[in-house]
Amino acid sequence: MAKRSARFTCQNCGSVTTRWAGRCDACGEWNTIVEESDGGVGAGPRTIGLAGRKGRVFPLVGLAGEAKEAPRIVSGMTELDRVTGGGFVRGSAVLIGGDPGIGKSTLLIQAAARLALNGQRVVYVSGEEAVGQVRLRAERLGLAGAPVSLAAETSVEDILATLQAGPTPGLVVIDSIQTLWTETAESAPGTVTQVRASAQALIRYAKATGVAVVLVGHVTKDGQIAGPRVVEHMVDAVLYFEGDGADRFRVLRAVKNRFGPTDEIGVFEMTGSGLSEVANPSELFLGERDGKSPGAAVFAGMEGSRPLLVEIQALVAPTSLGTPRRAVVGWDGNRLSMVLAVLDAHCGVRLASHDVYLNVAGGLRIQEPAADLAVAAALVSSLSGVALPRNSVYFGEVSLSGSIRPVARSDQRLKEAERLGFTGGIVPLANLGEAAGGALSGAVSGVEALADLVARVAAGSAGLEAPARNPGISGRPAPKPAVAFDRDRRPAGNRAIEGAPGRLAGGPT
Ligand code: TYD
Ligand code: MG
Repeated sequence: MAKRSARFTCQNCGSVTTRWAGRCDACGEWNTIVEESDGGVGAGPRTIGLAGRKGRVFPLVGLAGEAKEAPRIVSGMTELDRVTGGGFVRGSAVLIGGDPGIGKSTLLIQAAARLALNGQRVVYVSGEEAVGQVRLRAERLGLAGAPVSLAAETSVEDILATLQAGPTPGLVVIDSIQTLWTETAESAPGTVTQVRASAQALIRYAKATGVAVVLVGHVTKDGQIAGPRVVEHMVDAVLYFEGDGADRFRVLRAVKNRFGPTDEIGVFEMTGSGLSEVANPSELFLGERDGKSPGAAVFAGMEGSRPLLVEIQALVAPTSLGTPRRAVVGWDGNRLSMVLAVLDAHCGVRLASHDVYLNVAGGLRIQEPAADLAVAAALVSSLSGVALPRNSVYFGEVSLSGSIRPVARSDQRLKEAERLGFTGGIVPLANLGEAAGGALSGAVSGVEALADLVARVAAGSAGLEAPARNPGISGRPAPKPAVAFDRDRRPAGNRAIEGAPGRLAGGPT
């Protein structure tokens, strides 16, 4: 008989090694490697008993053929259904991740109650809270009357036995996967092996019975679903519930979905009586806007199929340190470095001796490159001390050459801006044609290079009718910027912009 080999698994990332080490080579964490038995789930078939078994022949089929649309359980919470792609798919497993206290349990008890009131059989298994605690929350939310089947249990075998004993439910919620343990794995609860084995058992149950299973998973500080990153590969959909703990807005985002799009977001607001859906997030994110101070630009973005207007705030201040600070909240730091480099190289806006702080209002996280132009506008506005026109929106992708690339769905972005009372905007020149039909068409101007935007912001005419288009490109002299380059009126500390006029007038070098 073959010698039974030892197996060591990192409890942080799940990588397997043949010998123990103090530090995991794969993820670099210390003291996370633990010896586990070879018989654990995921270790491959046990040799005993299977050695002599011959494989079964199964038929292979073509791509064309009958395929049914996945049957879905619609929760009735529009924002949740949008993110799942139209409801929970029967027989699928969904992982909902998020920081502790962000509202995962609240969201799921609300969805469970909705479904139960609509006649679905819903089982809610809490491994973290006692039945009394869950009841108390349901009462606070005014959902105590909903016929949800509730239990506080952590043994996977007991949970599956209970589920199989009663009538088949439509939806099962497990809160949370980290608290479960199964007898098929030997390690302690909470370890990668346990989490993986428990998830596998529940996913197998979902596939076999057609029940939709929702697993809750906690996320660590660095944004990884703690321990069970392995679970991400096993489930059909991974949704993140995120938001600034101090802020009341919460965003549900799909990062993986086998049955729907992954760019949709659902927006919720945490209130005294639970999570309420936000159907018009733009209004919310633009809520308390101060249009007079420099450094704020409204970005007309898209989140999935929905346009979303958010304010981008920048603060540029002379640094007192050797290395200037760059702090970003809600956007990609590398993207900011790129915009700063393009501003420096092609527009003469030097920020090497300035601290730069960038913030996306409302705790939202933006991933679109289309935000480049709005970020640049906010940066130049803050640096020059010239407030951008209150009623203008910005979008466009900045390329390394300093030109502005067109973005998708500009008509929808402008329509949303118009709906919210905006009267102008700066968009990529190539998108201007699409704007022609809209109501904003007359007030929207196109830019072809980032230098054009800088000249306009500095001239205080960004977003309003700007007659000289592309001064740098066409070789025509740029209109003399009124405020930012005027030594007397320029706010202190804005020397960095000095190089701009010459550069603009001379065209790109
Ligand atoms: P919870 O759903 O328990 O978070 P998670 O399951 O993700 O750990 O949410 C807890 C937080 O939500 C808690 O800080 C209080 C807040 N909350 C409200 O503000 N209003 C409410 O009606 C409820 C139920 C919770
Ligand atoms: Mg919870």
